[in-house]
Amino acid sequence: RTVYLKDYQPPQWLVDDVYLDFALQPSATEVISTIRYRRNPLAEQGDALLLDGHDMELLSIRLDGELLMPERYRVHAGGLEIPAVPERFTLEVTTRIDPQGNTSLDGLYRSGGNYCTQCEAQGFRKITYYPDRPDVMAPFTVRMTADAADNPVLLSNGNPVASGKLDDGRHWAEWQDPFAKPAYLFALVAGNLACVEDHFVTASGRTIALRIYTEAHHIDQCDHAMASLKRAMRWDEERFGLEYDLDLFMLVAVDDFNMGAMENKGLNIFNSQLVFASPEIATDDDYISIEAVIGHEYFHNWTGNRVTCRDWFQLSLKEGLTVFRDQCFTSDLHSAAVKRIEDVRLLRALQFAEDASPMAHPIRPASYMEINNFYTVTVYEKGAEIVRLYQTLLGIDGFRRGMDLYFQRHDGQAVATEDFLAAMADANDADLSQMQRWYDQAGTPRLSVRMEYDSAAHRCTLHVSQSCPSTPEAEVKQPFLIPLALGLLRADGTPLALQLAGEAEGCGSSRTLLVTEAEQSFTFVNVPEAPVPSLLRDFSAPVILDYPYRAEDDAFLMAYDEDPFNRWAAAQRLAMRTMLAMLAGEAADVELIATAFSRLLADPDLDAALKAEALMLPSESEVADACAVADPGHIHEVREQLRVRIATLLQGELESTHAELAAASGLDDLAMQQRKLKNVCLSYLLTLKTGRVIELAYRCFLQAACMTDQYAALAGLASCDCAERKLALSAFEAQWQGEANVMGKWLAVQAGSSLPDTLEQVKQLLAHPAFDLRNPNKVRALIGTFALRNPALFHAIDGSGYRFVADQVLQLDRMNPQVAARMVRALMNWKRLEPVRSGLMRAQLQRLSDAGLSADVGEIVSKSL
Ligand code: ARG
Ligand code: ZN
Repeated sequence: RTVYLKDYQPPQWLVDDVYLDFALQPSATEVISTIRYRRNPLAEQGDALLLDGHDMELLSIRLDGELLMPERYRVHAGGLEIPAVPERFTLEVTTRIDPQGNTSLDGLYRSGGNYCTQCEAQGFRKITYYPDRPDVMAPFTVRMTADAADNPVLLSNGNPVASGKLDDGRHWAEWQDPFAKPAYLFALVAGNLACVEDHFVTASGRTIALRIYTEAHHIDQCDHAMASLKRAMRWDEERFGLEYDLDLFMLVAVDDFNMGAMENKGLNIFNSQLVFASPEIATDDDYISIEAVIGHEYFHNWTGNRVTCRDWFQLSLKEGLTVFRDQCFTSDLHSAAVKRIEDVRLLRALQFAEDASPMAHPIRPASYMEINNFYTVTVYEKGAEIVRLYQTLLGIDGFRRGMDLYFQRHDGQAVATEDFLAAMADANDADLSQMQRWYDQAGTPRLSVRMEYDSAAHRCTLHVSQSCPSTPEAEVKQPFLIPLALGLLRADGTPLALQLAGEAEGCGSSRTLLVTEAEQSFTFVNVPEAPVPSLLRDFSAPVILDYPYRAEDDAFLMAYDEDPFNRWAAAQRLAMRTMLAMLAGEAADVELIATAFSRLLADPDLDAALKAEALMLPSESEVADACAVADPGHIHEVREQLRVRIATLLQGELESTHAELAAASGLDDLAMQQRKLKNVCLSYLLTLKTGRVIELAYRCFLQAACMTDQYAALAGLASCDCAERKLALSAFEAQWQGEANVMGKWLAVQAGSSLPDTLEQVKQLLAHPAFDLRNPNKVRALIGTFALRNPALFHAIDGSGYRFVADQVLQLDRMNPQVAARMVRALMNWKRLEPVRSGLMRAQLQRLSDAGLSADVGEIVSKSL
């Protein structure tokens, strides 16, 4: 069943308050919900109450105290209908649910012997019957009773108000959340958990208690998470003037979680992978993502909770904005250029591919079958790029004015993306109406630029045109509002002052042009020589840039561009061009790229992380996206060949850089950046597969003082057929068998290996004690890495990879449809493949489609076929 944005109707009934009483038992938890309803004066008439609910046993219903006989209501697959209810009434519903048997990890479930919940987007309707939609907001009071020995800790949203012992070995607690909220922000946690405590004093002087709960044996791995939380709280005050609003902030880490984390009011629940850290178990990248996700969930308290979404089509209203906020947080605390590069790398590799797939959708979709399928890189990461556009257009201060007005107008409300746009426009007296198209149109726009230089008049004209391919929701696209940030460089590498025709004087060497039409031209005057344009600086819009750069231009920009992002972009373009030439069987100038890399390595002004980013070639999936018809086997070969040739030409420099950085230690940014470059050098060297480099990698593995180095060496060795590979894998296993998340890394390096027997290994690992099909982290590590990050093996020409993934999807779908739906995406893009693989992949989709599927997997399969 498809749901459409255009069908939105305000809720018929509003909720004054919610009282929930849980009698927690692992396999039979009884929930009594007592809810006061009142007719919504703004909704149409009609006196039936329709509530959402499924996967529950309905025990009883009382309306204003009176027990309803079954003929007074109707239960159907998706909920409950009570005809003829009064204008105001109290409904008491008792349901029985089975947390232990809930393998979907949606609703109330068990993880590691504890109770926890996940209610976004529609998990609350598996707990009790309710109008489970974000525009119904109410204050919640929650009481729970549980066995006291097994569940010493009982938590819910808001503030603890009372607790006590019962005489049968059970105890109870009551929590109250004074802020009206939608049901998707409800949370409950009960179990045997240890806790670290700290506090934060807000800008206005209130002291907030901070608590992180985990199983006892991980309690000493929460310091980084706690420090990150405090940094996030401070940052949101300083950057956006936003303070925390309750007296208590709690965060719980659980091992079984479908996504990264969840922003439940006052009680964030996290995938433990995004909480636990120590230098021994977490890589530098893990450290950064933990800080970013802790920030992200915390920032939701304002962008998501205080101001929430009217309906799920508006998901990007909170997610795009909150991702943008967490990006700014990371960027302010660490290297802004590196953060930007990494975000754009992810966007180009994953979101551009999604935008070109059968699941392409605008950041505000117009329809969906299963909302959980729309927690996508498009809604999140492209959504964040669209929020960034406002800041690019309005400046930091203008953006802040827009944010202030947004909160002033909408605090406590459930709103739509149009309300955000209006706040930005009104606060700045700007006409931003064209921005709306970014919300309504899918697809990645292509921005083509041509330069014309008039040497007599010293004028330089940029002819700009934009186009966007058709996507499922629309054939023809209206032009987007595209800020084009740029500079012009002289042949000696110095920047020109930019003066548009008609302007009295030049202003600065970088500026942003507004592209609003399908075709436009911009003329710069006082340009004494034909310049090299540096276009789309800092990736000023989520578009594909098309300019006829020559390889020499890229090498030149890599060396001289003032914009660090564009130095990286030039390196990527040069590498991409080289790989595409190799794919076409043309002569490729590997010398040029090696020389440019070598100059970069030697540049004393460039920090190590930027060097590392520039050295990393575009991924195989990005190369595939650049091909009309992709041959993943050939792409893998060519990319590896290029890496070998670069490593051969630069072996000396790679070795010496690696050696110079060997001693990098500590967790400061400099050390992290140095480790990054060191390990990129190691991965190039390992492509040579000589005894000497294998020995070097194995030594790095044995001597590693932190997980970053240990993991990098292990991942490198995992693709080498040598004795050291085996030794390293078993040493790692022996060392880390007690740490579930670290064992996930062990599974992932094997699933990502380029050795020919990888699929066999992966199949064997399914039976390894470190693997568990019910745990999403392990599924992502083993099956997800193979399906989504190992194109060479996944796309094996005999179809074995496709068959394997389809097998796993079928099994998983019976347990956890959300996770199965992530995996099945690997099979989506059969139309873009060469004919043999295309047919094999499609056959697996067909096979899935003939089986009984969940709504989640069903939507993706049906849209792909
Ligand atoms: N709102 C969460 C976030 O911070 C994501 C939760 C999504 N969960 C789901 N099952 N769809 O991004
Ligand atoms: Zn979020």
